[in-house]
Amino acid sequence: MNVGTARGGGKLAGFMRPPPRLFALVPCAGSGVRAGGDGPKQYRPLAGQPMVAHTLAALAAVPRLAATLVVLAPDDDRFEAVVPAFAGERGWVARVGGATRAASVAAGLGALAARGAADDDWVLVHDAARCLLRPAWVEALIDACLDHPVGGLLAWPLADTLKQADAAGNVAATVDRAGKWAAQTPQMFRLGLLRSALEAAGHGVTDESAAVEALGLAPRLVAAPLENFKVTWPQDFELAGRLLRSRAAERAAAQEGA
Ligand code: CTP
Ligand code: MG
Repeated sequence: MNVGTARGGGKLAGFMRPPPRLFALVPCAGSGVRAGGDGPKQYRPLAGQPMVAHTLAALAAVPRLAATLVVLAPDDDRFEAVVPAFAGERGWVARVGGATRAASVAAGLGALAARGAADDDWVLVHDAARCLLRPAWVEALIDACLDHPVGGLLAWPLADTLKQADAAGNVAATVDRAGKWAAQTPQMFRLGLLRSALEAAGHGVTDESAAVEALGLAPRLVAAPLENFKVTWPQDFELAGRLLRSRAAERAAAQEGA
């Protein structure tokens, strides 16, 4: 094949362009204020491993992800010690975390671009603190979004009746729950779109979708189980640990039976 011709010709050059790649970006630079306790929650042990190790293992089990970039706080001195096997061809680390989650994600997108990710590559942003993630849910998100013009997110259709609280902690109103979803992660968007969306939205947005919506776009909602919750409050650690231990027991039983 004549590569010179392929580079020069408009139609042929378009044909030759490699398909977009998929990257995961994991913001891991928070301090876990709501969780209380000692040190950032992502390093607390759960079922024998630090929380973030469970998160990264699920992403590593998704073959379509070219690489996962973890965003750490600039002064993080624990990551390599607690997840020693992570860095490598498919595991990248950037100490560029900011004051808010959105700032950490924006800086991580810059680090991905610096490593060669293109504007039309997909980025799946996933919270380090959602350590119950299963590879199959990531696959479902990718399948649902690859042909979508905007991208999308995993989310949970709310089951409970919603209450609006007043300042005293009493019910001020019942909010119609029809059509309400709780946003989860991963959230999957093209790198270029997400960079400009976050730049325009500022660093106060609490998820990528909100920044993209502010551009007038409508990301796809992809149903995921409640089990994909974000470990946030002190009591969440016990539940997450219990679920991870029961999964490990199921795997061990399946191996024994095999
Ligand atoms: N995060 C980040 N940079 C920040 C804040 C949060 O990378 N400045 C990451 C967290 O490490 C976490 C994810 O974003 O994996 C979701 O944030 P959240 O659950 O709110 O974690 P924290 O901000 O650490 O917790 P809190 O809000 O209770 O302080
Ligand atoms: Mg936070």
